Amino acid sequence: MKRFRQFRETPEIRDKYADVPPIRPSGLIYPYFVTEGEGVREEIATMKDIYRFSIDTLLDDIADTLSLGIDKVLLFGVVPEGEKDERGTAGYKPDNIISRAVRAIKARFPQVVVFTDICLCEYTSHGHCGLLHGHDVENDSTLPLLAEMAYQHAVAGADFVAPSAMMDGQIEALRQRLDREKLPTKILAYSAKYASAYYGPFRDAAGSAPSFGDRKTYQMDYRTKDQGLEEIAADIEEGTDWIMVKPALAYLDILYRASQRFPDYPLVAYQVSGEYSMFLNGARDGLFDEQRIFAESLTAIRRAGARYIITYYAKKFVRAGL
Ligand code: PBG
Ligand code: ZN
Repeated sequence: MKRFRQFRETPEIRDKYADVPPIRPSGLIYPYFVTEGEGVREEIATMKDIYRFSIDTLLDDIADTLSLGIDKVLLFGVVPEGEKDERGTAGYKPDNIISRAVRAIKARFPQVVVFTDICLCEYTSHGHCGLLHGHDVENDSTLPLLAEMAYQHAVAGADFVAPSAMMDGQIEALRQRLDREKLPTKILAYSAKYASAYYGPFRDAAGSAPSFGDRKTYQMDYRTKDQGLEEIAADIEEGTDWIMVKPALAYLDILYRASQRFPDYPLVAYQVSGEYSMFLNGARDGLFDEQRIFAESLTAIRRAGARYIITYYAKKFVRAGL
């Protein structure tokens, strides 16, 4: 008989044998929704304790985030319906909401590492991630618009642009544009991004639900085993700096395989809005302890090989000392 219980006898012994790398504040990336106006701090109905901020209140909140040791943020733009058009112009005009937010953040907190989401769905009247031709998303004509958005965020001072549209060739389009402009901004590719029901609360937060159809012609089909790895390989080939698997908990197999196959590329996992709200609502309803369910889930993501985790729980995780 092998005596395993000796590894579990006391908290000190359990700590000693815990060999999953710890989750440090510097390994967390905190998402923000940025909107027009002043003094805005609106809680998102489907995501408890997550807000849409105007740029002024965003800066106050980032001061708090930094005080916890979290120095990485991911920005999403939320624009009024009236500013949306077919081509998502609001997302890449020179004074777009995200470029203004990046400038304000960098002026006040130069040490913050700023990631910006690059996609059209937050800015198009139809809510799809690319340009439309009839009811189809037109891959190739979308690429220059994504590159323009990345360029605008990069000149404003973004450290990373993070294309999430799942258009083929989007990494190459961004890479060429950034190189041509001699900008130092890096790319975090949403490489293996699955068409997922877990994005539900986000679409409420960002007002980016498609007005018809779904995203299954561009986001990945979860009934595939190897395509996610091939998507990552293609993004590396096209010149990405960091790679991502999204969502996290339902895709730990993909995450683990990515960590084994691409050890030289910083691997990010996105614990998405549905994961966050599912746990919070479950805890609220007395199904489980909030801190314990997040500690266990985030540790699983880390154990599967994520070096960085994007999570709406980042601040609470650090504050709770988990
Ligand atoms: C937009 C985008 C989405 C998310 C990140 N970028 C929504 C989607 O693709 O439908 C999801 C994030 C989350 O659910 O927390 N392209
Ligand atoms: Zn999108």
